[in-house]
Amino acid sequence: MSTHQDKARDEAKDKDKARGKGHARAAPTLQEQLPELRPGQSVALLQELHILTREGKLNQDTRRKLKQVYHLVQFIEPLLAEVMAARGDVTLADHGAGKSYLGFILYDLFFKDRTTGRVTGVETRAELVEKSRGLATRLGFERMDFLAATVQQSLTHPALPERIDVVTALHACDTATDDAIAFGLAKDATHLVLVPCCQAEVAGVMKKHKALSLARTPLAELWRHPLHTREFGSQITNVLRCLQLEAHGYSVTVTELVGWEHSLKNELILARRMPQDRTGARERARQRLQQVLEELSLQELSQRFAV
Ligand SMILES: C[S@@+](CC[C@H](N)C(=O)[O-])C[C@H]1O[C@@H](n2cnc3c(N)ncnc32)[C@H](O)[C@@H]1O
Repeated sequence: MSTHQDKARDEAKDKDKARGKGHARAAPTLQEQLPELRPGQSVALLQELHILTREGKLNQDTRRKLKQVYHLVQFIEPLLAEVMAARGDVTLADHGAGKSYLGFILYDLFFKDRTTGRVTGVETRAELVEKSRGLATRLGFERMDFLAATVQQSLTHPALPERIDVVTALHACDTATDDAIAFGLAKDATHLVLVPCCQAEVAGVMKKHKALSLARTPLAELWRHPLHTREFGSQITNVLRCLQLEAHGYSVTVTELVGWEHSLKNELILARRMPQDRTGARERARQRLQQVLEELSLQELSQRFAV
């Protein structure tokens, strides 16, 4: 005869069975944990970037970074494919590369299985450049280079390919995005993909001329308070960047980098060089740029946003 305790244990077992307990549940596969993973994607790379732990598990902190980069990659891959189809080769310069998440993932997904194409990461911090070089060597990513240089220095750097098709700058600090634009214009790049970081230069000039601006126009109320000076300055900076690109013959799309909710800086600027300008769009953009600089007492920045 079974005791009360035995009965209770048997009942508990039955309940567990009904709930599916007691059967070892298969651990979720990597693909289940990260549906964005593509077939053939290098697990070694994801481990090296600390997106996967040594045991092959997802690191929740870096998972978010990977998702963000994937999101950006969706915009960049078609541009690379387009250039590759047109000329059988494609070069990409990634400015303010940091740990080069973007460059490595692009290489893995787009360049690795092709025989042409090159990615160059430009980064001032020499220790990050050293690490990225080591990683590229370990992974056999032969057509990946890294320059320990500023964006400006990279313009004339002998190690950089003469022709650059695609310029990327992801949260490149302060005016590094402007330097990346100047770089793209000098190289006549086909595409620029920019996610600007905060830029203090424009807000600084607005602050300097605030009293004069307030006397001149009621619109200076838009940047009277210091917080507004910073925010409006940041917005105007991107407006001026877009006009500068348009004045140089680029068609510009501004959108939001969805999935970057944690970051205030989620504006994505996509610029595509247009073959011709039948409607006078360049000249209109040039005039608008000058007018905005004048209206906001920013004429001293006309070199920064030079046309
Ligand atoms: C916020 S991090 C972004 C890194 C990377 N693009 C990412 O999104 O993970 C900005 C990087 O730009 C680099 N940087 C800042 N100014 C630069 C310049 N003028 N030229 C090249 N790199 C620069 C910094 O050292 C830093 O690694």
